[in-house]
Amino acid sequence: MNNPAGTLKVRLEAAMDGGIDGITLSAGLHLGTFSLIEGHPRFRDVKLGIIVSSVRALRLFLRKSARAGRAPDYIVVEGPLAGGHLGFGENWADYDLETIVREVVAYLEGEGLNIPVIAAGGVFTGTDAVEMIEAGCAAVQVATRFTVTPECGLPDDVKQAYLLAEPDDIEVNMVSPTGYPMRMLKDSTALGSSVPPNCEAYGYLLDRNGHCKYIEAWGKASDRSGGGPVSVTEKICLCTQMRRFKVWTCGHYAYRLKETAVARSNGTWKLPTAEQVFCDYLFSTNHEIHPPEPDTCSPALRAS
Ligand SMILES: Cc1cc2nc3c(=O)[nH]c(=O)nc-3n(C[C@H](O)[C@H](O)[C@H](O)COP(=O)(O)O)c2cc1C
Repeated sequence: MNNPAGTLKVRLEAAMDGGIDGITLSAGLHLGTFSLIEGHPRFRDVKLGIIVSSVRALRLFLRKSARAGRAPDYIVVEGPLAGGHLGFGENWADYDLETIVREVVAYLEGEGLNIPVIAAGGVFTGTDAVEMIEAGCAAVQVATRFTVTPECGLPDDVKQAYLLAEPDDIEVNMVSPTGYPMRMLKDSTALGSSVPPNCEAYGYLLDRNGHCKYIEAWGKASDRSGGGPVSVTEKICLCTQMRRFKVWTCGHYAYRLKETAVARSNGTWKLPTAEQVFCDYLFSTNHEIHPPEPDTCSPALRAS
């Protein structure tokens, strides 16, 4: 409790003890993360990647982690159209993924560093992915397209909300206690909820003085309520609400998910499988979305 660095160290080392092959450091990325775990016997064997949204953040991380004598094995460059937390300020819309990718690739080349770059955020079609690879990426990281597949563990009502979303239903707000902007559906049931703070049990969101912005927001809302029902609008208890699937995180293009599924006359949807989405990324051209029929997908993969 009240020990975010210690909590992070324990979690990372437990994953390595458990035999994990690789860890991508994203929301938990702070400049000293490598130093925290450099004493672990698997520190040089586990693949360690980082997510950054600027050359500046990358430069700082590399400088700080140089002391641990180890560079990241891959770098995910996450742009402003990603789902969940954004590594930008409230001016996130002033940035674009391809520009940042090109800057990161040029920086690494200039430093003589051969580290694969992976683009993420708004890569919605196979053609988007090709464009990122042409900009110098080794791969892309995608999430939103898979959220409505049967394999995705989200509850059906959340998938339904994604499929029905229009551009105005998706917002970037400041309700995360981390202080970073976050993209989600406006209808996320966590917004304005009354869940009491549970930060102590999780540990990692408390700062070293034991503070969490959600605890403060809940206290203010509680004072305002005059003993009636509490509704916290400034911040949300992210850990509890995400665990309950009440924060409907999505990428900017979630409103296009309806293009990827087939609406049935009874109001339900025929969802693409994860394999179909994967094959669509691999084989579709001209920014089109054409998930192949299920039985043609695997043979096409084998032939490729
Ligand atoms: C439902 C959902 C949950 C996500 N959860 C996390 C997360 O827990 N940690 C994280 O670093 N990124 C998370 N992301 C962001 C993705 O890892 C990813 O980089 C980005 O959303 C990719 O862009 P795309 O969704 O437009 O394909 C999430 C994205 C979605 C859509």
